[in-house]
Amino acid sequence: MNHPQEEVVYGYSEVTIMSSTAGPQLYYPTPPPPPLPPPPPRRRRRILVRAFIGVCIFMGALSLLTWLIYRPQTIQVAVSTATLSHFDLNTTATAIGDPPVLSYNLTAVLAISNPNRRVSIYYDRLEAAGLYQGERFGRAALPVSFQGPRRTDAAPAVLVGSSTVYVNADAFGEDNSTGVFPLDLWVDGVVRYKFGDLMTTTATTLTVKCHLALKLMVASGWVDCTVIDF
Ligand SMILES: *[C@@H]1O[C@H](CO)[C@@H](O)[C@H](O)[C@H]1NC(C)=O
Ligand SMILES: *[C@@H]1O[C@H](CO)[C@@H](O)[C@H](O)[C@H]1NC(C)=O
Ligand SMILES: *[C@@H]1O[C@H](CO)[C@@H](O)[C@H](O)[C@H]1NC(C)=O
Repeated sequence: MNHPQEEVVYGYSEVTIMSSTAGPQLYYPTPPPPPLPPPPPRRRRRILVRAFIGVCIFMGALSLLTWLIYRPQTIQVAVSTATLSHFDLNTTATAIGDPPVLSYNLTAVLAISNPNRRVSIYYDRLEAAGLYQGERFGRAALPVSFQGPRRTDAAPAVLVGSSTVYVNADAFGEDNSTGVFPLDLWVDGVVRYKFGDLMTTTATTLTVKCHLALKLMVASGWVDCTVIDF
């Protein structure tokens, strides 16, 4: 507490020494400078900074305490089953040089879990998207909006339709001849965590990646997904 005040006193004495030694070396004598009153805006700013630091420390301690009491764990996502019943590329549907048309029918059931004992989760938005060769080919909203503690929901995702997608036709042909398509299912959303009745966090984005290798018309088994961002 005393330390910053001491610094200011040293600062002033330095100023007076400087002006009294360096001053006479100039061509005119300088009168000794009158002692300056401590500038009030500076002191006010210092009080504000201290108050701000105090509030920050208090908020930090409070969130650390909340974190320690509730110990939030990340959402868990898995594909419990997925079936690719149609997946084909039509390169003659569009002009040469334009992306081909990919038609698809992917039905999946996602298992979305809140593993927490005391934390509930609001899903402000939750969607699944299919990716092939890194290109998105379909999107579906997932019907989960709130999960209480220790809850798992089965969310169906149906990606069906056709769209022009920049995929490499030769690579598609190779996958098509083996009959196994490497696909990714991305789950992304906006979530908020509710710590009991105490507080609810601000919205954060959730990004989950599920890597699948699907054979046409063959239902996959359980696949755990990787939570990338939460
Ligand atoms: C994929 O393979 C099927 C037969 O397995 C064939 O009918 C289809 O034309 C092939 N698609 C492409 C784009 O090669
Ligand atoms: C590809 O699309 C064209 C134009 O829509 C259509 O005439 C053709 O039958 C399609 N080919 C296949 C294999 O579905
Ligand atoms: C998509 O595939 C499912 C079976 O996996 C089938 O029940 C459904 O009718 C198909 N939808 C379309 C539009 O072909």
